[in-house]
Amino acid sequence: MATLGVNIDHIATIRQARLGVEPDPVDAAFICERAGADAITVHLREDRRHIQDRDVRILKDTIKTRLNLEMAATDEMQKIALEIKPYSCTLVPEKRQELTTEGGLDVVSNFEHLKKFIAPLVENGIIISLFIDPKKDQIQKSKEAGAQFIEFHTGKYAEVFNTPLEKEEFENLKSSTAYAHSIGLRINAGHGLNYNNVMPVAQIEHMEELNIGHSIVSKAVMVGLEQAVRDMKSLIS
Ligand code: PXP
Repeated sequence: MATLGVNIDHIATIRQARLGVEPDPVDAAFICERAGADAITVHLREDRRHIQDRDVRILKDTIKTRLNLEMAATDEMQKIALEIKPYSCTLVPEKRQELTTEGGLDVVSNFEHLKKFIAPLVENGIIISLFIDPKKDQIQKSKEAGAQFIEFHTGKYAEVFNTPLEKEEFENLKSSTAYAHSIGLRINAGHGLNYNNVMPVAQIEHMEELNIGHSIVSKAVMVGLEQAVRDMKSLIS
């Protein structure tokens, strides 16, 4: 059975809407851990649209599970990772205009850069995961580049879930996981996973951790809204 990494970026997105202090991702991480999260994931984006540098520093010092820092393979992010030393770094592609991470890293085309980028992080004891599409050449190059983990982008699977294409996409995830394991990689997955489509992925043999953000925060709003309104109403009346 897979473990759960909760991505709390959306908590910071709400905070940044007012550039204030609430809701605090550090409080959110504490609640996620209390509920059983096995890891906390944050994406420090180049444009700092949600998570801020300070959040990463405080989370590193306060969480009791593992901090997984998602970041682009840039000099700025490498410097921050080497200073903060999260438990793991997941390298993701980043485009300024995208709403979220739109596809996997192209490890084949960026092989030399990634190999050089990864080495000092691994030497400093940080576990490296590459966020890739479930494709054989990307898996192979991830291993050669020095990553210990890969994270499969499950966006396509989520998109075709409950359509005739679901089976083929799921089988691809399954065979890609088996292949990655056979060459000595460890495997995580994430993106677009929700309460309907997560179970088959969690049951794939050798699937270690699922990183989930959007659907958990969306559900949190829905299960928490009633109480929030009741509390405000009782103060006012
Ligand atoms: N894994 C990675 C590498 C991501 O970039 C994201 C989205 O930020 C996720 C997992 C979580 O995706 P979602 O928010 O759709 O659950």
